Amino acid sequence: MLSVRLERLNDLDEWRGKARRLLVAGMKPSQVVWRVGSEESGLFEAGDDMLPNTDGPIGSVPRQFMDLATDVIQHSDPQRFAILYRLLWRLQDDKHILANAADGDSSLLTRMASGVHRDAHKMKAFVRFRTVEHEGDERYIAWFEPEHFTLEATAPFFSRRFAGMHWAIITPYASAFWDKENLRFGPGGNKKDIPAEGAVEDDWRTYYGAIFNPARLKVAMMKSEMPVKYWRNLPEADRIAPLIRNARQMEEDMIARATTQPPARHMRRKAREVTEETQPIQSLGDAAEAIEGCRRCPLYEHATQTVFGEGPENADVMFVGEQPGDQEDLAGRPFIGPAGQVFDDAIKTADIDRRRLYVTNAVKHFKFVPRGKRRIHQSPSAREIQACRFWLDLEREFVRPKIIVALGASAAQSLVGKAVSISRMRGAPIDLDDGSVLYITNHPSYLLRIPDPETRAKEREKFEADLALIRAHMERLEKS
Ligand code: URA
Repeated sequence: MLSVRLERLNDLDEWRGKARRLLVAGMKPSQVVWRVGSEESGLFEAGDDMLPNTDGPIGSVPRQFMDLATDVIQHSDPQRFAILYRLLWRLQDDKHILANAADGDSSLLTRMASGVHRDAHKMKAFVRFRTVEHEGDERYIAWFEPEHFTLEATAPFFSRRFAGMHWAIITPYASAFWDKENLRFGPGGNKKDIPAEGAVEDDWRTYYGAIFNPARLKVAMMKSEMPVKYWRNLPEADRIAPLIRNARQMEEDMIARATTQPPARHMRRKAREVTEETQPIQSLGDAAEAIEGCRRCPLYEHATQTVFGEGPENADVMFVGEQPGDQEDLAGRPFIGPAGQVFDDAIKTADIDRRRLYVTNAVKHFKFVPRGKRRIHQSPSAREIQACRFWLDLEREFVRPKIIVALGASAAQSLVGKAVSISRMRGAPIDLDDGSVLYITNHPSYLLRIPDPETRAKEREKFEADLALIRAHMERLEKS
């Protein structure tokens, strides 16, 4: 048995170097044990110094594997190096393993990568800085306990977001330091060494109180978004219980005032600090991350979250709706509410598989007016559609669909650049500048709003006829 020693627990380059040498030496996964740092070797393990020190040729490695490995290497499962090597070994003979969702290794790695994504997301959401005086200057320090080894990959997010602050994030396994210019990493720390609470924590409490909207309080959802185990490190945690207790009264007060809470001064200041412009957007993933900080129009202020598009990055067909509705806003996914149900039924009738579509909206935040406990949909303005076009253009640039379908007037306006009549434009494809073609049809929620069953049935037929044209176009693409 060969013991391969890695110095660092989440360094993909180091793992890749060793894995390459193992492959060149023809070492089977079952002959290798991976050890990290000073972890002891077993009695019958030989050291890896006998490995050929060569970069000899290995078969090409699919890009998808390297993307997965970038995430999986950060997972806390001690088996991650071995599982990655096993899959790399198998890929030498079969390049298509990753496309097989039923493959055990491939689905295990995908699940591990999702766990790492979730952990990075939690870190972005739940890190809270405290102020520390240092030679008359203010420093910011935060303690965080990630589940996986995600600090190194996530820290650049904080240096972009808090570029003008001296900060440190300390975790049990590593720490990150930003001095307004350079990001450096060091060893892990101890929670008890983190300085006591300072002024910035008071800011966080005010901020949290301001964004806490009792009309949307769902304790179970809140717990799943902000798991209880993170609460103890959050300065606002001591506010959560009283806020939950008082939620009903607050909600009634809000309704009585017939208005939503004006955003607090802190919230506005925070909002200005978060801007997507500071980071280069080079992929659909970058765009999905950057849009979280979008302040191009005021709709972000009251929406629960951004709803970015979803579907394969190389989809031939992109469907564009208007904006997320109430359910989409809560779930963070497009077309999953009542309009999504109509959409799903209609594409099924047209024999279009949603899994092959990229589905998005012209506007990525829910626009509504509160009425009692309900949030009533409002159409986005031309200005809001125009502001959000930046994101739709990025989705088009990265997905490069050959067919784009505008569902309803707002989507058509975003894609054509001016208000258009659906009844006049539907049924015939329009050539767009990037070589794609645009089909315009009604929005599924239009069908939901027609009270007369006969008219509704007729409109549904027209909608399905439009989808049939699109299906026929998809077939032509498949054959070409
Ligand atoms: N309506 C839309 O336009 N998009 C959605 O995602 C949901 C409803």
